[in-house]
Amino acid sequence: MDLLKVLFVGDIVGKTGRKVLKEILPEIKKNFYVSFVIANVENAAHGNGLTEKIYNEIVNAGVNCLTSGNHIWDKKEILKWIDTKNNLLRPLNYPPNAPGKGYAVFNIYGIDLTVINLMGRVFMQPIDCPFRKLEEIIQKIKKPIIVDFHAEATSEKIAFGYFADGKVTAVIGTHTHVQTSDNEILPKGTGYITDIGMTGSFDSVIGGEREPIIKRFLSGIPYKFEPAKQGEGLDGCIIEIEKNNFLCKNIIRMKIRKINGEFILKMEDAFGNYNMLKLKKFGGGKNENYKI
Ligand SMILES: [Fe+2]
Ligand SMILES: [Fe+2]
Repeated sequence: MDLLKVLFVGDIVGKTGRKVLKEILPEIKKNFYVSFVIANVENAAHGNGLTEKIYNEIVNAGVNCLTSGNHIWDKKEILKWIDTKNNLLRPLNYPPNAPGKGYAVFNIYGIDLTVINLMGRVFMQPIDCPFRKLEEIIQKIKKPIIVDFHAEATSEKIAFGYFADGKVTAVIGTHTHVQTSDNEILPKGTGYITDIGMTGSFDSVIGGEREPIIKRFLSGIPYKFEPAKQGEGLDGCIIEIEKNNFLCKNIIRMKIRKINGEFILKMEDAFGNYNMLKLKKFGGGKNENYKI
């Protein structure tokens, strides 16, 4: 095949996110010929951070590369073991003293794919410049390159996308937990989406129980974020990489929601083609339902 297909899964939030991932990932992999899976895991452990046990759970579920963001340090135990995991990333533009690493190279059937994790600075904590950091790192590595750009402001994300256009294969936005409908191929061939969304409970405020968050807005007092359980779903996208130039041929946005006990998948590619499937219909290893 002339294409390499990579699945990118939006921020996995708590137990519900992990449950949905385990249930749905094998179906997506076998039906859409996905060769490699990236998932953002900064909220995987009860909404905040990552434990080693949950790291293992996600890897065993079939995720090949784990990216993260501002919440990666929330469970302090990670400081002890982050350096021992080759496929776990934290944003590359943390100051040099931070443990862990910000990019990794993975060999997929003879192709070296680099995944880079970077974090934005608008409405986020102070950190080194992600634009300059990208420029520095791409002197050392070649495409295909996929960037998880973990940021809050849509303007910063879009500006970063155009800055990276042609230099990397795809820029995938994470952090807001709300999927945007702007998946597209930028003029110089880079696949882009402002945010791919999240994986977990959608009957929630960005994955958390609604009441404590509403109370917080009403009172100004911080209440504990509790991951919600209702309304399971998974957001993500498939990045189709051309093997001749390692640019992006297509970026297909996926939204999966459990409705009346069944998982429904809605997908739309960068050219406006769309499809809606029931999970059980795209089970069984057959591909005829995949029309995009
Ligand atoms: Fe997140
Ligand atoms: Fe985040």
